[in-house]
Amino acid sequence: MTLKGKTALVTGAGRGMGLAFSRELASRGATVFMCDVDGGTVAAAAAELVEQGLTVAAATVDVSSEADVRTVVARAVRETGRIDIVVSNAGIHPLKGIDEIDVAEWDQVLAVNVRGCFLLCRAVLPHMRSQKYGRIINIASEAGKNGGTICAPHYAASKGAILAFTRNLARAVGADGITVNAIAPGRIATAMAAQVSAEENQVYIDKSSVKRLGDPTDVANAVAFLADEKSGFITGETLNVNGGTLMD
Ligand SMILES: NC(=O)c1ccc[n+]([C@@H]2O[C@H](COP(=O)([O-])OP(=O)(O)OC[C@H]3O[C@@H](n4cnc5c(N)ncnc54)[C@H](O)[C@@H]3O)[C@@H](O)[C@H]2O)c1
Repeated sequence: MTLKGKTALVTGAGRGMGLAFSRELASRGATVFMCDVDGGTVAAAAAELVEQGLTVAAATVDVSSEADVRTVVARAVRETGRIDIVVSNAGIHPLKGIDEIDVAEWDQVLAVNVRGCFLLCRAVLPHMRSQKYGRIINIASEAGKNGGTICAPHYAASKGAILAFTRNLARAVGADGITVNAIAPGRIATAMAAQVSAEENQVYIDKSSVKRLGDPTDVANAVAFLADEKSGFITGETLNVNGGTLMD
């Protein structure tokens, strides 16, 4: 129980990777606030984890909303007295090519994927600074490095922004005992990957070294590693979790 006594906040926690991260952090002893814009789904997911004996709470949060983000951070601090770990994971990935994307959709992808991460980090920093401790983990994507393999230029741009933001913030807050890292997952078997046909996923599998899609638990292990107190000398890093599709 290496995370006993720690408070964590995970966004996009209702399903997919965010749910796996919440389960992993809670099973290591953290109290986890599971946030998702889909309130019903995250409430059901949290209830299931509570039934398994884990300490989690659900919150309906749209990460692109400043008010929602402030409210849930204030709640976590009010209920547990601290905030130690943040996993900025909520993201959207509309499968569109550049000619199909209007300004509203471009802004929406950037609002959820980038503004959401900024709002969350900004909201937790005062608490982490006063604790002189924090672990921030931003979920980017392989697409942020190589431009992505399945269209969605707004998504690729948003994930590239997360990589730069992570490094910038890591420099700014390291002296306060706060680390800021990113994870760049390859294709992981969630609803997001299921938007793509089985044939297209097979092309990806063939290109990988380990010959499979990732599982959310593959990424959850990386999150738990970066969230650990012992990972305090790792910051500004982007960890590939991609089965060998991109080695850089
Ligand atoms: N699945 C992949 O292949 C893959 C690869 C690389 C990176 N990623 C990234 O990993 C993260 C998780 O992906 P996933 O595959 O689990 O996705 P998913 O679509 O299965 O789950 C995303 C969750 O985020 C929630 N969400 C969406 N908009 C939100 C908002 N405005 N506020 C709060 N919650 C919101 C959704 O309701 C959903 O529960 C995303 O940032 C995604 O870009 C995914």
